Amino acid sequence: MNATKDVSFVVAPGGRLNGRLRVPGDKSISHRAIMLGALAEGVTEVSGFLQGEDSLATLAAFRRLGVPIVGPEAGQVRIEGVGLHGLQAPDSPLDLGNSGTSMRLLAGLLAGQTFPTTLIGDASLSRRPMRRVTEPLGRMGARILTTDQGTAPLRIEPVPQLRAIDYTLPVASAQIKSCLLLAGLYALGDTCVRETAPTRDHTERMLANFGYPVRRAGSRVCVSGGERLRGRAIAVPADISSAAFFLVGASIAPGSDLTLLEVGMNPTRTGVIQILRAMGAVIDVIAAREAGGEPVADLRVRGAPLHGIHIPEDQVPLAIDEFPALFVAAACAEGETLLSGAAELRVKESDRIQVMAEGLAILGIEVEPRPDGIRIRGGRLGSGVIDSHGDHRIAMAFAMAGLRATGAISIRDCANVDTSFPGFVDLAAGAGLKIGELRQK
Ligand code: S3P
Repeated sequence: MNATKDVSFVVAPGGRLNGRLRVPGDKSISHRAIMLGALAEGVTEVSGFLQGEDSLATLAAFRRLGVPIVGPEAGQVRIEGVGLHGLQAPDSPLDLGNSGTSMRLLAGLLAGQTFPTTLIGDASLSRRPMRRVTEPLGRMGARILTTDQGTAPLRIEPVPQLRAIDYTLPVASAQIKSCLLLAGLYALGDTCVRETAPTRDHTERMLANFGYPVRRAGSRVCVSGGERLRGRAIAVPADISSAAFFLVGASIAPGSDLTLLEVGMNPTRTGVIQILRAMGAVIDVIAAREAGGEPVADLRVRGAPLHGIHIPEDQVPLAIDEFPALFVAAACAEGETLLSGAAELRVKESDRIQVMAEGLAILGIEVEPRPDGIRIRGGRLGSGVIDSHGDHRIAMAFAMAGLRATGAISIRDCANVDTSFPGFVDLAAGAGLKIGELRQK
């Protein structure tokens, strides 16, 4: 979507984060609101929708599939649902940009349609593994072609009828689980997905909220095909994955006192809070409440001395997107932090273990990347030029590192910050980060 070399961040050293702010809407929930709203009967009104490139790619894809959608405007979207069988064939490939969630969830949803579709993405998405969804979908009878490497483009051919499966996830992935549940809406019989570690459950929650019967027992979730979704209002909470940069920034910068408003607190997403608290962070959960089937709260975070820990492996899927920020916290902590059981980080928007290790080493931090994790020894952050490799979360993590650096940090290839966090620079600068942006025409 972006010519990704054209935006750099420059962060002057020092400062602290103060005030009250709301980060943009949750990306995972925004994608699902569009998808389920489109498949529902009746109107779905979404508020707090993330107007970032990833969720906008999902929205554009459903317009191309014939769904009338008004907005987004100031986070409001109105979807006139077409029902489970009302989608129409697009006239050319659907471009999902940088968005793995769009591609993997749509693969399941589109496998059950009566028309063919082709899904394409940018250079990063075109490198990411897709067999993890095409293989189980194939067991359901779907016909999906990938490249020889198992990557996009995905060519999805219609089949007369999908069959239900009972599938145990080989990796902890909400994207695979959600893909199969969405295919299950079109399958004959009960589609069940079993997970060996809990992953985000927004799809299950939202299906139930749209009135679709979902059966959950322990680590297993099942849907049967052929029921109905009914349009409804969805209020999207602020994204805890975006809040994570501010939780880390305020924790590492002495004198910070920051309140983050209306943050999604789904227990399958709160690993970042558990991990930071175990490192010594001071985070208060205020006014915990429920909104649209999802828990939300305000979070108050204050600067505090952090110490290194061995991150419990059971927290890894619950903080999977927050590790770039957590690595910066580890670099500012006293002693050593060890992460294991996190090989999935190597197949995100970039190889997040390698790219973070390279960046932290440039700033003078002792790091040892490992196949499934990293060892980081806390120390003094210096200055330097960091390449984010077009990964939004790497760029924002290193921006927060400026709060504790001894010199300026320049971060290259930051345009993709707009995929998940439009307005990051202004919001962070308003809270006290000494950040500026250089855009090349
Ligand atoms: C997501 C699931 C996670 C996460 C991604 C969003 C989702 O991926 O990294 O940013 O919305 O389902 P995996 O489930 O593949 O780990």
